[in-house]
Amino acid sequence: MNNETERLPADAAGIARAAELLRAGGLVAFPTETVYGLGGDARNDRAVAGIYAAKGRPQFNPLIVHVADLAMAERFAVFSDQARDIAQAFWPGPLTLVLPLRPEAGISDLVTAGLESVAIRLPAHPVARALLTAFGGPLAAPSANPSGKISPTRAEHVMDGLSGKIAGVVDGGACAVGVESTILSLDPPRLLRPGGIPAEALEEALRQPLEAGGDAAKPNAPGQLTSHYAPGAGVRLEATEARAGEVWIGFGPDTAGADLNLSASGDLVEAAAALFATLRAADRLAQERGASVIAVAPIPEKGLGRAINDRLRRAAAPRG
Ligand code: TXA
Ligand code: MG
Repeated sequence: MNNETERLPADAAGIARAAELLRAGGLVAFPTETVYGLGGDARNDRAVAGIYAAKGRPQFNPLIVHVADLAMAERFAVFSDQARDIAQAFWPGPLTLVLPLRPEAGISDLVTAGLESVAIRLPAHPVARALLTAFGGPLAAPSANPSGKISPTRAEHVMDGLSGKIAGVVDGGACAVGVESTILSLDPPRLLRPGGIPAEALEEALRQPLEAGGDAAKPNAPGQLTSHYAPGAGVRLEATEARAGEVWIGFGPDTAGADLNLSASGDLVEAAAALFATLRAADRLAQERGASVIAVAPIPEKGLGRAINDRLRRAAAPRG
């Protein structure tokens, strides 16, 4: 598609227009509490194929299906008692559940990549919920950025990467959480991706420890990580000071001299919300100064720090 991308306000008229574009098989980016998603009808193969094309995704990774309510989720996935308990505790919110797919329910095989499971999420953002309700069906929605680049937390970020390639973007301002949803599979409970719900909160609700699993949960060998969330400049982690020619992103009061700071007070929630916008700002600064490396201060590996470190390790991974 090479038409102009419609920039839609997050009011009733904008949401009605977005739903209309989606019903016609178009792609519309919309805000969630985590990041902006690039939405398309999860039952429409052409729309889903269009998502991969717009993002320039090399492979068909499975996508997350967004729903308006629990009843809609149960149309597409099989919920055990435990799954329903967890959904009731954390939905709407930044948690994605991987559950057995109901194959007859019509989700495109391009969404599930042919798996027998489906990843489902009920977002909390009022604009996302209004859009899902107006559309009345499931939306496949990965983050609304070109593959491998930094995830968007504002409508302008979406336009920077995808303008002219998608039908519309609903502008709902900045995303509050700032990192993608936590992905959990059950039987046994397994953390597939650290994200906006801290693993500790899930372990407490489940009353059992999570098994680590999925490559997203094991970023211990950076060489094995696929590059993702990558700014233009290189990324150096655990940086307690800036070296010559680096842009330094700090965290906490010990890094007062940094060029930018994820959270001057050392608050992980604030840091997660600021992460992607700060990486973009550091990239611009690096370009202005002719710097080739962004150095990032150490972030504690607890709570939302796990999700932040996961994204930073991917940003620092060798570029493929
Ligand atoms: O916060 C978020 O989750 C954002 C916003 C837009 O909602 N969405 C997002 O979607 O990050 P997406 O489609 O990029 O997430 C895809 C990831 C895959 O990389 C994979 O790890 C996991 O979801 N996934 C999807 N289906 C799966 C399945 N059946 N089994 C295991 N993992 C699955
Ligand atoms: Mg993404």
